[in-house]
Amino acid sequence: MKKFVLIVTIIMLAFTTCGNDPEENVNGFYGNPGTYEIVSYDGKSNVIKVNGAKTEWEVVKYSLLEYKGKEIAIIFSADVRREGAAGDLSWHVNNEGTYPTISYLPNAGADVWHHMTGKLIVTPANDNPSIFLSTWENNTKNTVYYIANPSITIEVDSINPALTPLQSVYKDNFLIGNIINETYMTGRHFERLKHHYNVVTPENDMKPSLLAPSKKGGAYQWAAADAMVEKMLANGMQVQGHVLVWHFQTPGWMIDGTKEEAEANLKNHINTVLKHFKGKINSWDVVNEAMRDNLSPADTEGNWRNCVRSNQSDWEAPWFDKIGPEYIELAFLAAREADPDVTLYYNDYGLDNPNKAKAVRNMIADINERYINEKGGTRKLIEGIGMQGHYNRWLNVENVRCTLELFKTLGIEIAITELDISFSNTGVQGNRNDTVMSENDEIEQAKLYAKLFKLFREYSDVIVRVSMWGIDDASSWLSAGNPCLFDWRLNAKKAFYAISDPDGFLEEYKE
Ligand code: XIL
Repeated sequence: MKKFVLIVTIIMLAFTTCGNDPEENVNGFYGNPGTYEIVSYDGKSNVIKVNGAKTEWEVVKYSLLEYKGKEIAIIFSADVRREGAAGDLSWHVNNEGTYPTISYLPNAGADVWHHMTGKLIVTPANDNPSIFLSTWENNTKNTVYYIANPSITIEVDSINPALTPLQSVYKDNFLIGNIINETYMTGRHFERLKHHYNVVTPENDMKPSLLAPSKKGGAYQWAAADAMVEKMLANGMQVQGHVLVWHFQTPGWMIDGTKEEAEANLKNHINTVLKHFKGKINSWDVVNEAMRDNLSPADTEGNWRNCVRSNQSDWEAPWFDKIGPEYIELAFLAAREADPDVTLYYNDYGLDNPNKAKAVRNMIADINERYINEKGGTRKLIEGIGMQGHYNRWLNVENVRCTLELFKTLGIEIAITELDISFSNTGVQGNRNDTVMSENDEIEQAKLYAKLFKLFREYSDVIVRVSMWGIDDASSWLSAGNPCLFDWRLNAKKAFYAISDPDGFLEEYKE
């Protein structure tokens, strides 16, 4: 028995000495025992000096044990310096086999301080979760690391309590939508989606390249889109179909080959997809972004076919190149035939530009007129126009009004299909780490949202749906422009409150 106690004590002692020793730490950061000391260096005190040659791949760490199982928002910064050799500096969360990155600096120079920052939402799941500076190169480089001013702020449950659902704010006006993607299928994103929105558009999973990536074997990949449709319908949301015919995210096999083959592929694809989702999706974006940019008023006076995006005007227009402008009408005819119960939409961006708007209007008017002349009756072929609404800080809301007036004359429904207002100065897409917005930008952005929704309300006799393209800034396809209603922690931004009460907001921030 005594022997047993002794062995247990030795094992426990071994664990204490080999384990983490947070006793000696700087703001909670510590190294592996025997590999680090706390020193004054280069005019800075309380610097962790790590002898990298001795350490494992976790150079220093910060324990997240107390947050295990809780969703947290981490805000991190530190000054880091490598002595001796340049190389990567990267901070991660150690989270049960996955190592999400907080901050990454590739090939950081030697012998200078690097100020590193990062933000991340994570739910630590590991037995001993931590944030750590990683290395895998010590055997070759013997690097010495210095870490000064390490700082971590952790917010637990930083998410707002339930806000008034946007869908109830606009229940008498139009549907309110957002996108669905893999990230939004669960957790806080899904909660937000279900709370605020009553219609979703799959961000990517119904696009031709995702449904039909390869002709070999002819197999369509339905699993991801099906899972979305089932879950959304089960949760009382409608699903908008997006998209059947586009120049982008379309597999080469559909358009390779002769004109006749391309036409057959186009019809088959539309038929296959509409039949597959029959009864589940009320309206589809049939053709996306067919009209070109930079049209002059003179361009729009003639035949709309001369305004269609082509290999002359754009770097990529495969359907046009193979079939000519008739691919548009062909697609709508095939869609009507495949499922007459579906409302067919033409969808495009940049329609606040009066010339582009006019070209689109001319096209729809012509196609619809000829269709009715030929078929008789009153049912139009193109029954909806989607204005994407990827706007930016230079948006003139009055241009949107002019376009709404113009489109009203078509006698078809209008949807705002992909709304976001990007405040990036560079136009770059960015990634989830660059999510900083000045207060002034947040106010200016919110004003634009307020003005737009005021306008949409005025036109709610023709606008049937307003859908956003992303819930929060970090997950948006344009994250560098922070274009969404929620910030990277899923907190409501000024833009959210602006939409909740446009008049009140514009009154409060009167120019
Ligand atoms: C975007 C998605 O958001 C991205 O994830 C993808 O990489 C590219 O496509 N117009 C459209 C949408 O009709 O399908 C696009 O979505 C954004 C522009």
